[in-house]
Amino acid sequence: MDHPYLKPGPGDGAPLYFQLYRRYRDAIATGKLGAGDRVPSVRSLASELNLARGTVELAYQMLTSEGYFIARGAAGTFVSPHLEPLGGSALPTAAPAPQPPVHRDSFAAAGVPRPFQLGMPALDAFPRKTWARLAGKSLRAMDPASMSYPEPAGFMPLRHAIATYLGISRGIACTAQQVFVTSGYRAALDLVCRTLIEPGAEGWFEDPGYPYARHFLTSIGMRLAPIPVDEEGLDVNAGVRRAPSARFAVVTPTHQSPMGTTLSLPRRLALLEWASQQQSWIVEDDYDSEFRYHGRPLPALKSLDRDDRVLYTGTFSKVLFPGLRLAYLVVPEAHIDRFAAAADLLGGPGSVPVQTTVAEFMEQGHFARHLRKMRALYAERRRFLVDALAQVFGEELYVQPQAGGIQTLAYLGGAAARQGDVRISDAARTQGLAVHALSRWYADKPLRLGLLMGFTNIADTATAIALSQRLKAAIDSL
Ligand SMILES: Cc1ncc(COP(=O)(O)O)c(C=O)c1O
Repeated sequence: MDHPYLKPGPGDGAPLYFQLYRRYRDAIATGKLGAGDRVPSVRSLASELNLARGTVELAYQMLTSEGYFIARGAAGTFVSPHLEPLGGSALPTAAPAPQPPVHRDSFAAAGVPRPFQLGMPALDAFPRKTWARLAGKSLRAMDPASMSYPEPAGFMPLRHAIATYLGISRGIACTAQQVFVTSGYRAALDLVCRTLIEPGAEGWFEDPGYPYARHFLTSIGMRLAPIPVDEEGLDVNAGVRRAPSARFAVVTPTHQSPMGTTLSLPRRLALLEWASQQQSWIVEDDYDSEFRYHGRPLPALKSLDRDDRVLYTGTFSKVLFPGLRLAYLVVPEAHIDRFAAAADLLGGPGSVPVQTTVAEFMEQGHFARHLRKMRALYAERRRFLVDALAQVFGEELYVQPQAGGIQTLAYLGGAAARQGDVRISDAARTQGLAVHALSRWYADKPLRLGLLMGFTNIADTATAIALSQRLKAAIDSL
């Protein structure tokens, strides 16, 4: 088989694997290769082009992980049959158009999940059969309750299941009536703002902190005071100095996003004390507390909240999958009616059959089993990535040790530090690696440079090494 268009060209400074990768993409874009076409095996292409097998393997891995190729075991490797027509010209490989401050991981041709994508659970390890059985059952039932308008505060059996889970796992004593199901975390923030916070109010927001929540809150007119974070989590004293009479504070106490630290007990008590004195609200964003690899999970801040100042939020995005668009909010008993009125205005969190499936998944014990399995799996996958980064980068990257979570934070050293995390993440993204720059998570001047990387979909050491090498190549190309 002859593939002249694949031969690395003279004078191209890019590494050979990347040249090969780019040539395949161009061949697909210009129609030389069509959807469903078989491509040569790694071995035969390596010998045909006189390249090392590892070089071809790396190019194939990139093309597979970005959705251009599909591997069908012994049958061989094929151009994905699902590719959209790509038009007549070669795909651009030059610098990307200017990006927004934080990139949205897109669902475009790059494939899902993208390498290093943040916030994604392990899609290959989801118990699809069990889920499909429960979902099929709830869809087939077609009972009038699930065909009618949904309860705006959420499907009651799901609210019960969440209240039970929170009592056991997070030390939160609440009734099902206090639980409001929402379509994602930002919808929970929306509900809090509509119900308890005056438009234009000032609030504390961790710096660095979760950019999507920051943008959402500023977009609805909230004024955010960036409050620094250190090894004990949010610096409460700095908050008191900077915005003493703020009306609210948004915090990630279990596992600060993105630094991974835990809010210390003295700070927890100081934060609660401040909120009680000021009659301000604390939004506790407990987005990934379920994944902790050393020691026992800490109880939620909410479990220490004697004066009912904490609005607790959790999400199903990490523990099940983000496409569900389901999160929840626990509200103080005294304000249930006000929250119910606001939820009424918004019309509820969506599909009843989906909420029924989640409720059954929890009630029948599948949820607890899935979490147990994912804890072990993520500890292993995290190690794959941390070891691979150490092997490939040596002292250029230093991975912050963290007790939990589903992403790693690696600080930059050596040559990488001189390039800066923004340039590196932009370069990585042009090569399909969904790495985030820590700098972009700051509202004030960044104090540290680093890269945030998801590891949950890195299934083995070889993939971790191949991805780390691609990242290194992206950095070296700068
Ligand atoms: C810090 C933080 N909070 C909350 C969420 C949950 O958001 P959602 O429920 O909209 O998926 C995420 C998801 O990535 C997150 O990283």
